[in-house]
Amino acid sequence: MRIILLGPPGAGKGTQATFIKENFSIPQISTGDMLRAAVKAGTPLGIEAKKVMDAGQLVSDDLIINLVKERLTENDCAQGYLFDGFPRTIPQADAMKDAHVAIDYVLEIDVPAEEIILRMSGRRVHEASGRTYHIVFNPPKVEGKDDVTGEDLIIRADDVEATVRKRLDVYQEQTRPLVDYYGKWADSGDEKAPQYRKVSGLGAVEEIRARIIDALK
Ligand code: AP5
Ligand code: ZN
Repeated sequence: MRIILLGPPGAGKGTQATFIKENFSIPQISTGDMLRAAVKAGTPLGIEAKKVMDAGQLVSDDLIINLVKERLTENDCAQGYLFDGFPRTIPQADAMKDAHVAIDYVLEIDVPAEEIILRMSGRRVHEASGRTYHIVFNPPKVEGKDDVTGEDLIIRADDVEATVRKRLDVYQEQTRPLVDYYGKWADSGDEKAPQYRKVSGLGAVEEIRARIIDALK
């Protein structure tokens, strides 16, 4: 199974990805997680990306496209993959099309902007795994600690309100056009086109999970 998860910051892509990747036994390819790992490791890519990410802007297409192409050569991608937070611009989507990277489903998680600000302000993350919690909506078993490892949770550097608002603007301008891009392709009759599915991201995490199972049947 080859899936693209599409949706604004805070839609719950990472939260639902945890379940989707287990359900289909496919790796999650989160460009956000990959960039945060590079920032943490202090690599040249990480140093360049940090400034852009903290400003709520997008890292350059060339850099991201190369990162993903390289990741796709790894053995675990043979059975499929789950893109989380990628593609995020038309050039990124075109690059995948040109490279004949097959996609079965584009799954859009739809959440209104007001809800997103609430979600981001309470988000806590386990840095090493990318596992995500919310202090009210999806709390860890022990406050401030990851359920699996017991390690500390952190607040993401780009979750301050001003940056979240900037990320939402950037989503509208640069990523939202992909809704049309994949929607039109799905309707075009092209046999290589992915199927397009949209689910509401409002409600409890488990309810959204059930919608996703239904949508991918
Ligand atoms: P990235 O890490 O991809 O961030 P994002 O797309 O902005 O999305 P988020 O991770 O913020 O949200 P999410 O949808 O995963 O929500 P989550 O499940 O965590 O990218 C970060 C940055 O990296 C970008 O700004 C950019 O600079 C750069 N970048 C990454 N990819 C790039 C690319 N392809 N091109 C260029 N630049 C790129 O949930 C959010 C919160 O809500 C959590 O607290 C969660 O517990 C809670 N929650 C989840 N579901 C529910 C629910 N149903 N009800 C209540 N709360 C919920
Ligand atoms: Zn995420």
